Amino acid sequence: MTIHGLSPETVAALEHALGQGGVAIDPAGMAKYLVDWSGDHRGEALAVLKPASVTEVQAAVRLCGTLGLAMIPQGGNTGLVAGAIDIGAARGAVIINLERLNRIRRVDADNFTLQADAGCILQHIKDAAEDRDCLFPLALGAQGSCQVGGNAASNAGGVNVLRYGMARDLVVGLEVVLPDGELWNGFSGLRKDNRGYDLKQLFIGAEGTLGIITGVEVKLFPRPGKIETAYLGLPSFEAAIGLFQHARRECSDLISAFEIIGAECMDLARLADPKVVTPVNEPVHALIELSSSSAVDLRGLLMDFLAGALEKQLVADAVLAESNAQARAFWAIREGLVEGQAKRGYHVRTDLSVRISDIPTLVDQARQFVAQKHPGWISQAYGHAGDGNIHFNVLPPLDLAQADARARGAAITAGLYDIANALGGSISAEHGIGRTRQHAYWAGLSPVHRRLASALKDALDPDGRMNPGCLFPATETLS
Ligand code: FAD
Ligand code: LAC
Ligand code: ZN
Repeated sequence: MTIHGLSPETVAALEHALGQGGVAIDPAGMAKYLVDWSGDHRGEALAVLKPASVTEVQAAVRLCGTLGLAMIPQGGNTGLVAGAIDIGAARGAVIINLERLNRIRRVDADNFTLQADAGCILQHIKDAAEDRDCLFPLALGAQGSCQVGGNAASNAGGVNVLRYGMARDLVVGLEVVLPDGELWNGFSGLRKDNRGYDLKQLFIGAEGTLGIITGVEVKLFPRPGKIETAYLGLPSFEAAIGLFQHARRECSDLISAFEIIGAECMDLARLADPKVVTPVNEPVHALIELSSSSAVDLRGLLMDFLAGALEKQLVADAVLAESNAQARAFWAIREGLVEGQAKRGYHVRTDLSVRISDIPTLVDQARQFVAQKHPGWISQAYGHAGDGNIHFNVLPPLDLAQADARARGAAITAGLYDIANALGGSISAEHGIGRTRQHAYWAGLSPVHRRLASALKDALDPDGRMNPGCLFPATETLS
């Protein structure tokens, strides 16, 4: 007899290694680990393993090796590309979720570093940094649920990349259980360390295909004493990019965020919160945030900049936040877009990047493509303009059947990728490849790039047990 494809002996061995609370094999216990955040994708797993210590992660990985099971590392399961669930069902796998490995290990405010278990929720890391008057600047809509290990594994971006970089720039050390169960301790506490290969970078952005991250050491920054936020109205994406380029120089590089939102997205903001009040009425909205120590006259700087920009007609309207609550309300509009989309149901979701100056062309071409080739579908453009990153999303007509929408959605996605590629852009600025972008990613690689990527995978995970079907084609590395 087998239980979900696992023999009773296998289940007993797993429970012996992880305790009963560390193994879920029943449908109810596994359910929330098998569906992605948006509800778009449902996966399969033989079991969900939840180790509570690094030693238990090692034991789980060794047992999976002995039993011939593939493993899917999983953090908060908020990724948007199905990297943490097996939607391909190429072969049975167990999910190894890190939620019970959730201790902040050390905050070293003098060294401006923090070390934590990989399963720590990002918001908890940010709170622990703030308790020591520091800032951990990784900021994204999912920060209340995603885990710092998942952030590192997916090289997450978010709204403060412009100032502080992506996860790759923020990690100073990692601890990783390798596919054979051995532990690599890549912690030194050093902010500078130029001894040979920087191995941690192999695992950052590897999306769980090379090992399981069990610990992360990150950079902290002084907590800004002042933050100023303004919500702007502009006639076009071109004007918004022009303003950004101007602001970057005029505001002494104190910009911590510059987000851009096509006014058509306000319907999504209202889906997330019907009471939302749009501060401006122009076709394009932008959110600018400046932050600095208390010593700087930040408000004066932003006011002078905006007054000059209004006078020179670089911006049509500007509302400066008068309180933290008003700044929060501005940000709620931006953050509500992802929630609004999820409420709307299935939609085409992209994460394109181009050179910053090519953003207006990207948006124009993408809008025209949708309007001409897919009438009835609704384009939505917003994103991290300061990083050249646009989430160009497309909503199906409300009366279109799910299956038809998904089929047409695949063609729309391919068309949008063609537009980004023709501009020399990327089909994944920050969300990663996972399983949903795997084919487009692999098809776009040069033979030498494929060879190098496969050589790395084969060297670290020769049996192809770690997250098969994610990033690499399922058949490429598995026998
Ligand atoms: P998961 O979704 O569980 O996993 C993501 C990938 O990492 C998978 O391939 C998984 O196998 C692997 N993985 C997870 N944990 C580990 C580990 N410990 N060791 C090895 N591999 C592991 N992303 C951005 O970049 N910018 C944004 O602004 C942004 N906003 C978002 C807003 C919302 C509302 C949502 C739902 C998502 C958003 N995301 C954004 C997506 C983002 O990638 C994730 O939110 C987050 O970084 C993933 O962390 P997670 O713990 O949920 O990882
Ligand atoms: C955002 C996510 C979707 O920028 O990356 O809202
Ligand atoms: Zn984003």
